[in-house]
This record gives sequence, structure tokens and C-alpha cells, in this order.
Amino acid sequence: MTTPAAPKRLYIKTYGCQMNVYDSERMADVLAPLGYAMTDAPEGADLVVLNTCHIREKATEKTFSELGRLKALKQEKAERGDGVMTIAVAGCVAQAEGEEIMRRQPAVDLVVGPQSYHRLPELIARAHRQLGLRLAADFDPEEKFDALPKARGVTGLTAFLTVQEGCDKFCTFCVVPYTRGGEYSRPPEAILDEARRLVDGGVREITLLGQNVNAYAGPGGLAGLVRQLAKIEGLARIRYTTSHPRDMDDALIAAHGEVEALMPYLHLPVQSGSDTILRAMNRAHTADSYLTLVERIRAARPDMAMSGDFIVGFPGETEADFERTLDLIRATTYAAAFSFKYSRRPGTPAAALAGQVDEAVKEDRLARLQDLLNAQQAGFNAAMVGRTLPVLFERIGRREGQVVGRSPYLQPVHITGPERLIGGIWPVTIGAATRGSLTGDLAGEPASHALEPA
Ligand code: 5AD
Ligand code: SF4
Repeated sequence: MTTPAAPKRLYIKTYGCQMNVYDSERMADVLAPLGYAMTDAPEGADLVVLNTCHIREKATEKTFSELGRLKALKQEKAERGDGVMTIAVAGCVAQAEGEEIMRRQPAVDLVVGPQSYHRLPELIARAHRQLGLRLAADFDPEEKFDALPKARGVTGLTAFLTVQEGCDKFCTFCVVPYTRGGEYSRPPEAILDEARRLVDGGVREITLLGQNVNAYAGPGGLAGLVRQLAKIEGLARIRYTTSHPRDMDDALIAAHGEVEALMPYLHLPVQSGSDTILRAMNRAHTADSYLTLVERIRAARPDMAMSGDFIVGFPGETEADFERTLDLIRATTYAAAFSFKYSRRPGTPAAALAGQVDEAVKEDRLARLQDLLNAQQAGFNAAMVGRTLPVLFERIGRREGQVVGRSPYLQPVHITGPERLIGGIWPVTIGAATRGSLTGDLAGEPASHALEPA
């Protein structure tokens, strides 16, 4: 073996969803054999990757302002005689606006879409030789998953695992079907393999990722996959995100009642509670059908904590439409939620609709919506006081002697206790709650010996 060269410094900045978090880890994996080691600041880095998000205008604009800052760092590095800083733009802005990026920011060396990360080494080499091939934005997810290194560096007790990508739903506000392409499901063997590797490396909880994860099209659908995963010894918790109401089939609902490892927390975006708006959004469900679905899910798993996404100010949304959304929220009761002002995305059908809503009206509705959701979240957490919950401890806390974990409902739980609790699932009696987290005391030994840390 030859002496390894000094490591090259790699800085990856990730925007947007958990899919991007997963992809960024895979990019680090694919670059490691080339001698790139992660650093936590862009200053002086040899390679900077921005893994971008295109979902709303604000997210997109962040890419361009960050690129402005990087351009200055690139110049400083060159002036110091410290070599070249290669700047790569990855993710959904790269996919959707590759040409625009290259035009607006000449400091960018290469643009790589989400289906081409396995080609990063080649693209970097080409950029370095200035061969001019700087754009890779084709769609072939199968090739991508085959070519990317398998998840390797297990860094914690919880991990993401992408099982599905892309979207065929074409909600009229959304860019995802254009940036991430059509629905693609990875073969179950590849997923089970990756999951086993993660668990062997110490992971206790896996969150299955997909833009439409419950549209997973392998044998038996997502329910079948979850049941297979639940057989892996040592895997204590399974979660999945994000789901579409119309893919929430009977088998998956049944799994929630039967698979112990499947956690009682479900992110099920609804976007609006007005049937007029839902139709204009092309959501393929009504407010009532959503509420009935939630009822059926809670019949299978009575303690199911619901989470959702909401958009206010979709074109044509009246005050009455907006109030239907508040009604739906009251009827569902959410443990958590994400809410957004409608953002007009060029190329999507809704961008061309009449009746675009005033910014001030959007602001007002968002504030009212969030007041209600915040109150529900606070109420959900407050209801935990006095209960004993199984907590998977993940890390030490900021305060001396504190350890932090998560409840089945994804709430952060802080207790004073020894570090050896980390990695295990321990019963905690909740003493106090805020809107964002819980505190409590250890209530005894772990429920099952199998759940103790190895
Ligand atoms: N404007 C506002 N919010 C949007 N989302 C997707 N597209 C837009 C848009 N154009 C939200 C939806 C989706 C979440 C990931 O982002 O609520 O569920
Ligand atoms: Fe976008 Fe709708 Fe697909 Fe979700 S289901 S990614 S909101 S088009």
C-alpha cells in the first residue's frame, strides 16, 4: 500500500427533508474512498457540496445566497495559495435549475441531481480537468442505489433508510414529481440487507424514508416490508415518513395494530380541510375521507400520535375554506405539524391559477393555524405527565448528568441519569412537559432484557 495522501476536506450542507440528510450521508460515503473526510465548516474546504431543497421559493433562494458566500471563500482560499475549492450543487435545485445555477454563479464547478450521486467521483474528476461535463441530472434511481456504497458509518442509535423515492401524485402546488421523478421502490432484499448492517452497527431505531413511503411497491407493500424488518433481532423501533392518505391501505393500518416495533406516530399530510381546495390541489381525498382514515388508524392503534403538513393561502382559498382547515385540525388533534404559506412554484399547475392570495392574508392565516397546532402539541405533551413511557436514550444532554432520548411518540425526553442508559429503552415516568419536550425520572429496569444495551 502507498502512503495515504493528506485527507481532502469535504463540507456538505444539507437543506430540506430527511431524504436529503440520507443522501448527504451517502455522498460522504461515496467520496470517502477518494480521500475526502468531513469537516464542519466551509472555510478552507477542498470540496463543498450544497444538498439543496426546491420545495418552496425561500428554500431555493437560500441556495443562491449560500453560493454567494461560498464564492468569497473560494477566492480567499485561492489567494492564500491553499489550492482549489470545488463547489458542487446537489439536490432538487440542482435537478430543477441546473442551467440557471451555472449561469447565475460561475463559481459553481458542478451540478448533480439526486439520481446521479454515484457519479460524483467522475464528475469531480471531470470538473477538475475542466472537461466541461458539469451537469448530471438524469433519472435512473435503480442505477443510483446499486452504485452507491451501502450505508457504512453507523453514527448513532437511530438511522434513516431510503426505501422509496419520487412521486406520481402531482399535487398541483408541488415540484417533487418534477425534481425527484416518478415513484421508485428499492427491492426488499437490498433494504433488509442495509437494515441488518445498520442494526449490526448498533442502530436500534430505523426510519424508513420515501417521498411517498407508504406507496412502497415491493411485495406486500410497506406493511410487508415493515413485518420483515420487525423480525430483525435488535431492531427495537421502526418508523416511516412521509405518507400520502390515499396509499394508507388496510394492510398497513393492520400492521400498526400488530407490529410492536412499529411506533405509534404517523406523519400523514392533509394540506387543507376544504374540499374545494383539496380538489384544486389534486389531493384525491376529501376532508371527510381523511378524518375517516384517521379514525380507522386509531381504531387499530388507539394511542396513534398524528402529525401533518398544512398549506395556507393556496390560490382561491377563502376565509371559509381556511376555517375548514381549522375544523379538520380540531377534529384530528395533532401531536406535531409543519405548516407553510403557499409558495408559487414556476412550472406547477397551481402557479397559473387565478386567485393568488395576498401575502398579508397568508401571514395572518399561518399565525392562526400555528396557534391552534401549538396549543394541540402542548396539550398532547401535557397529557403525558404522570404516565410511564418507554424511552430510547440516544445521547447525553446539555446539562450535567442529563441523558436524552425519545418516547414512542417522538417526543424528546430528558432525565438525570447515568450515561450507561444510552442505547437502551428504559421506562420513564413523566414529571413535566413543555410544548417541545418532556422531563421525568427513571421508573425501573428495562421492560425486556433484550432491550438493554449490548
Ligand atoms: N408551497 C408551500 N408548501 C409546499 N409544500 C410543498 N409544496 C409547497 C408549496 N409550493 C409543503 C407541503 C408538503 C411539504 C413537504 O411541503 O405541505 O407536504
Ligand atoms: Fe408533492 Fe403531493 Fe407528491 Fe407529496 S404527494 S411529494 S406534496 S406531489
